[in-house]
Amino acid sequence: MRLGFGLRADSCGMEACWAVQMMYDAFEPKGCVQGMPPVADYTRRTWVEAIMGNSWNFVLRERYKVVGHAAAIADKRRKEAEYLIFVLPNYQKQGLGITLTELAMDYLRRRGIRRVFSKVQLSNIRAIQLYRKFNFDFSPQGDDSRCIMACTLEQAA
Ligand SMILES: CC(C)(COP(=O)(O)OP(=O)(O)OC[C@H]1O[C@@H](n2cnc3c(N)ncnc32)[C@H](O)[C@@H]1OP(=O)(O)O)[C@@H](O)C(=O)NCCC(=O)NCCS
Repeated sequence: MRLGFGLRADSCGMEACWAVQMMYDAFEPKGCVQGMPPVADYTRRTWVEAIMGNSWNFVLRERYKVVGHAAAIADKRRKEAEYLIFVLPNYQKQGLGITLTELAMDYLRRRGIRRVFSKVQLSNIRAIQLYRKFNFDFSPQGDDSRCIMACTLEQAA
């Protein structure tokens, strides 16, 4: 999906792993979202490899540079997926989180996923606002400071 200003958003596979690693190397502050992206270099590399290998992945690219990444860790039997998203600080507040999430939700819907959830700190206003735009609501699970937001994807007829 071409977005203008040299930006595009696409689903991707392991071929994008190195570029996604570079994005998380540049992301600050590290560890800000429940320890993600991991602070230690080795742990961060392993974390990215695991996500890229075990999830559906989506990237925002400015030319060859990845400036945003989202992943959906799916449980196909239960038709649900855990969603996470990071946009580099210099690229935030420009609607790119919305664009990447639109792409991801459409992709998940077409693959039969019915429920998408994310673990969110109650202090993470930006993430909560973003998820609200996609009709995520607070789910009863979770503890005091960290809650689960979830949405139901309408399946195409
Ligand atoms: C959450 C995150 C992905 C949002 O990305 P983004 O590209 O800035 O989001 P968008 O510009 O598309 O904005 C989406 C909505 O978020 C809200 N938002 C964005 N910046 C905000 C801010 N500074 N304060 C409050 N709400 C904000 C707004 O509702 C916005 O909608 P609007 O454009 O109609 O105002 C980004 O802040 C980020 O990477 N945060 C760190 C990682 C994280 O917390 N991930 C989520 C949990 S895994």
